Amino acid sequence: MKMAAIILAAGKGTRMKSARAKVLHPVAGKPMLCHVVDLIARLGIERTCVIIGHQADAVREALSGRPVDCVVQSEQRGTAHAVLQAEPALRDFSGTILIVNGDTPLLTEVTLRRLCDVHQARAASLTLLTAQVAQPFGYGHIIRDAGKIVRIVEERDATTAEQAISEINTGVYAADARFLFSAVAAITPDNLQKEFYLTDIVALATQQGVLVADVLADPDEILGVNSRADLARAERIARERINARWMAEGVTMLDPATTRIDAAVTLAPDVTLHPGVTLSGRTRIASGVTLYSCRINASEIGCNVVVKDHCVIEETVIESDAVIGPFAHLRPGSVIRRGAHVGNFVEIKKSALGEGSKANHLTYLGDAVIGRGVNIGAGTITCNYDGHEKHPTIIDDNVFVGSDVQLVAPVHIGARSTIAAGTTVVRDVPPESLAISRTPQLNKSGWKRKKRVPPNETK
Ligand code: UD1
Ligand code: CA
Repeated sequence: MKMAAIILAAGKGTRMKSARAKVLHPVAGKPMLCHVVDLIARLGIERTCVIIGHQADAVREALSGRPVDCVVQSEQRGTAHAVLQAEPALRDFSGTILIVNGDTPLLTEVTLRRLCDVHQARAASLTLLTAQVAQPFGYGHIIRDAGKIVRIVEERDATTAEQAISEINTGVYAADARFLFSAVAAITPDNLQKEFYLTDIVALATQQGVLVADVLADPDEILGVNSRADLARAERIARERINARWMAEGVTMLDPATTRIDAAVTLAPDVTLHPGVTLSGRTRIASGVTLYSCRINASEIGCNVVVKDHCVIEETVIESDAVIGPFAHLRPGSVIRRGAHVGNFVEIKKSALGEGSKANHLTYLGDAVIGRGVNIGAGTITCNYDGHEKHPTIIDDNVFVGSDVQLVAPVHIGARSTIAAGTTVVRDVPPESLAISRTPQLNKSGWKRKKRVPPNETK
C-alpha cells in the first residue's frame, strides 16, 4: 500500500500555559512530536509532512535529522486548514494518507497498523481511530446513526447529550488522498471557534455517500495532551510501559512506581534498580549493575558497578566493578576506570580516575588525570582554577596522596610518590619522592585556656 503521513504540529497549545510549543514538551525525556514522528517512521511510510507554525524554528530544530518535510502553516486556523497546507507537497501522491496529531505521544505501532489494514481491507475513503473513554470531555464525540459513524462533534459545539457520548475521536485518520484534499477544501469554519475543523470531513463523507470505516483503540494509547495534567498522565503511562518492557528484558525494579527511565536509555539483563532511580539521555547500563536512588544522565555504566544512594552522574563513563557514592557528584567528561572507588561527598569534573584508584571522602577532582592504584586522601582538592583559566593536574600510577592536600594546578605528581597530609603542592613532584609542606608544630607545655565568664554572671 502506498502511504504518506501528515502530522499536525502547528498549534500553540494555549491550555499548556507555556512559553514552549506544546508538541515540544517531553514525555519520557523525548518531545511528544518526536514520539509521533518516530512511530510513523517505524511504519515504513515513504513521505511524512509535519505541519509546523507556532515556534516553527524550534520545532524544526527538534526534528532535525529525522526524514520529514516540514510545511509551515503561518496562521493556525484549525486542523483542516493545517492538513490543506500539505496539499502542494503531496499533490502528486495517490494512495492512503495517515493523519496524526502531534500531541498524542502514546500511540503504538500495532494500533496504527491495524488502522491501515482495516482501511485497506474495507477499501474505505476514510477510516477513523476512535476510543471509548471514561472522561470524554474535551475530545470530539463520535455520532453514529444505526451503528454507522455519520459525523464528529467537537466538545464546544456539542449538546449536553452529545457531550455524554463516550466514544471519541483520537485525531488519527487514514484517508484516501484524493477524497481527503477535496473534502478538506470544502470545509467551512461554521463553529463556535470559527476554525476549520478536520473532523468535518466525516459529515462530508457521509453526504458524499463514501465509506467511513473505524477502528477502536485502547484508551491509554490515544491520550491527547492539551494541559499539564494530561502531560503528567502521559508521562505516567509512558513510564509504566518503559518499565514493563525493561522488566520483561530481565531488569529487577524494587519499586517501579519510583523508577524513571527515559525513552533513549538502554539496560542489560540482571541490572537491579532500587527505589528512586532516574535515568535519562542516552544512558547505557551494563549487566550486573546495582543502582540505589540516584540520577544518571547521558552516561555509560559498566558491568557490576554499584552506585549507592544520592549520587548525580552526568555525561560520565564508569567502567566495570567501580563503586560510587553515596553522595557523589560526577560531572561531564569524567571517566572512572575499572574497579575504582568514589566515596561520599566527592565531586569529579572532566577527570579520569585510574583503574583501582580511590577517592573515598570529601574531595574535589577537576581537570585531573589520575593513574592506577592511586589513593586520594580525604579532603584533597585540585585547585584547578586561577580565576581566569582551568589547569590540569596529572597524578601518575601508585601515588599516595594523604589527607587535606591541595594540588595547585598545573601540577604533575610522578609515579609512586607520596604527598604528606596537609601539603599544598605548588611544584611538580618527581617520581618516588615525598612532598611535604607543613608548618612545624609547636607544643606549649602547661598552657591553659583563659576561663571564659558567661554573660550576666559576675565572679
Ligand atoms: C482534536 C480534534 C478532536 C479530537 C482530538 C484528539 C479537531 C477539530 N478536533 O481536538 O476531535 O478528539 O484532537 O486529541 O481536529 N494544529 C495545527 N494547526 C492548527 C490547529 C491545530 O497544526 O491550526 C495541531 C496542533 O498542534 C495539535 C493538533 O493539531 O497537534 C490538534 O490540535 P488541538 O488544538 O490539540 O485539537 P483538540 O482540541 O485536541
Ligand atoms: Ca489535542
